[in-house]
Amino acid sequence: MKDTELVGVQKTLSPVLRAKALDNRLPHPILGDEYAERAMRRLDPDYDKRRFGTSQMGLVAVVRAKAHDDWARSFLAGHPDAVVLHLGCGLDTRVYRIDPPATVDWYDLDYPSVIELRRRFLPPREHYTLIDSSVTDLTWLERVPRGRPVLMIAEGLVPYLTETDARRLLTGVVDAFPTGQLQFDTVAVWAWRTSKWDPTLRRYGTQFHCGFNDPAALAEWHPRLEYVDEAPLSDSPVLMAKAPANIRRVYRLLNLLPGMRRATRIVRFRF
Ligand SMILES: C[S@@+](CC[C@H](N)C(=O)[O-])C[C@H]1O[C@@H](n2cnc3c(N)ncnc32)[C@H](O)[C@@H]1O
Repeated sequence: MKDTELVGVQKTLSPVLRAKALDNRLPHPILGDEYAERAMRRLDPDYDKRRFGTSQMGLVAVVRAKAHDDWARSFLAGHPDAVVLHLGCGLDTRVYRIDPPATVDWYDLDYPSVIELRRRFLPPREHYTLIDSSVTDLTWLERVPRGRPVLMIAEGLVPYLTETDARRLLTGVVDAFPTGQLQFDTVAVWAWRTSKWDPTLRRYGTQFHCGFNDPAALAEWHPRLEYVDEAPLSDSPVLMAKAPANIRRVYRLLNLLPGMRRATRIVRFRF
């Protein structure tokens, strides 16, 4: 099965899944995600057979996933009754990696064609629900239980939303729950503005629709929202410790370019 049923932004799930599949082949993987490797093979049986087929250049996406996983685990350890909203989930297998206790209700949300692929490639679980909807149609929020702490994870999603939609989403989630943590990543304004020339995004027929030079300031979007912190990405110790030497060298060089080190930022908020 190839990813031919996916259109536009939905196709962006493929390079990140591929990075996780390839990470699983490292002698000391960062995520070690066997579900990702299996799902990638189902999505594109030849994913590792083409030019640069096994290049670990995408490993920074794996570092991003690990940062989100670490934050999610620590939130769930303190809030075992939480509701998890994993938005723009793609084929990410976070729920299997984290394996939350039965007291947690986990929701994976993406467009219907992506959710259909999840149903085909990944096994069902107890206390785990798929929502096939655009994240911008906020009526999906009526399908999740309220009155409990919420953990909202949006990995690789916010840059594809307009600022207006991102704001409606974040404030809508804060309004719907008594307390919680929001974690997501954003791109810098220059990365948003130049995304229409990004060769990968062009190939998928998509581009970014928002960017922020100071994502901590998004706390101002809602009076109950408070910025917590940021996780390192292209200069993270785990990337420098686990990436093959040639990949480390490339990232060290890229990090020297102005703006590159903070082109994507992973941020955490609470309320
Ligand atoms: C770069 S992929 C990231 C996938 C996954 N979070 C990961 O890190 O592996 C972006 C995902 O966001 C989804 N997406 C983008 N805009 C969306 C929207 N308006 N509603 C629901 N999903 C959306 C795409 O379909 C895609 O699966």
